[in-house]
Amino acid sequence: MALIGVFDSGVGGLSILDEALRQLPQHDYIYLADSINAPYGERASEWISARSMELCQYLAAQGCDAIMVACNTATAEAIAQIRTTLQHIPIIGVEPGIKPAAMQSANGIVGVLATEATLKSDKFTALLATLPINYQFIKQAGAGLVPLIEAGQANSEETLELLAKHLEPIQDARADTLVLGCTHYPFLRKAIRKLLGDSINLIDTSDAVVRQLKRKLEAQDKELVHGKHGLIRLISSKDSENLLLMAQELMQSDLSKHQIESHLVSTFK
Ligand code: DGL
Repeated sequence: MALIGVFDSGVGGLSILDEALRQLPQHDYIYLADSINAPYGERASEWISARSMELCQYLAAQGCDAIMVACNTATAEAIAQIRTTLQHIPIIGVEPGIKPAAMQSANGIVGVLATEATLKSDKFTALLATLPINYQFIKQAGAGLVPLIEAGQANSEETLELLAKHLEPIQDARADTLVLGCTHYPFLRKAIRKLLGDSINLIDTSDAVVRQLKRKLEAQDKELVHGKHGLIRLISSKDSENLLLMAQELMQSDLSKHQIESHLVSTFK
């Protein structure tokens, strides 16, 4: 059994934790939501890397066997530095699934909805450069969406209106595939389907990311005990009760099978 640390700027990484609980329910998890500082996506690179480093060091100090950077923005800005600093722990990141999207697109036109920081990052530019130039990627920053999701409004009228504006260029370009390039956005699936219909492919990489975690744990020889449900500690920098409520509301996993603790931690030293 392993202890897995998962962090995000807020509740977005719960989409990754949800998939982790589906594939690897037997482990113990610490989920850290830095909601007091969300959204990260409109902050400066230096701030994002320093804060992400601080949170990973905190998770490492709790004894985590592996850490999932369940945030595309933090992965883009900080994963190289985190891996260099915490060499003894597998660090698994998440990035917009543009490769699987390109493979699944029939017309080669792919929308990418992500944060401004992710889209502007060198890591994302380098990832784009690995794909053949005959694909057309319509990049759109989802400004304002994360605060609405954090406020429990994933399906509100306000969210639908803002989302419709962001999706317009993607729709106009006739993209047949849309990359959900921020871990908060899988919680907008229903709203996206309402606006774009059922035919567009929606790509999120949580399944692949968790399979990668599984491989890393197997390589460490961590025992995979089936039929057991581990402990989940939910830590928020803003409001731990709200984090628990949001987890119950947003996640598909049956949390009642796990022992859950929730805490407020404001300093991650
Ligand atoms: N959930 C994060 C991501 O995957 C960050 C969103 C934000 O805080 O702006 O990019």
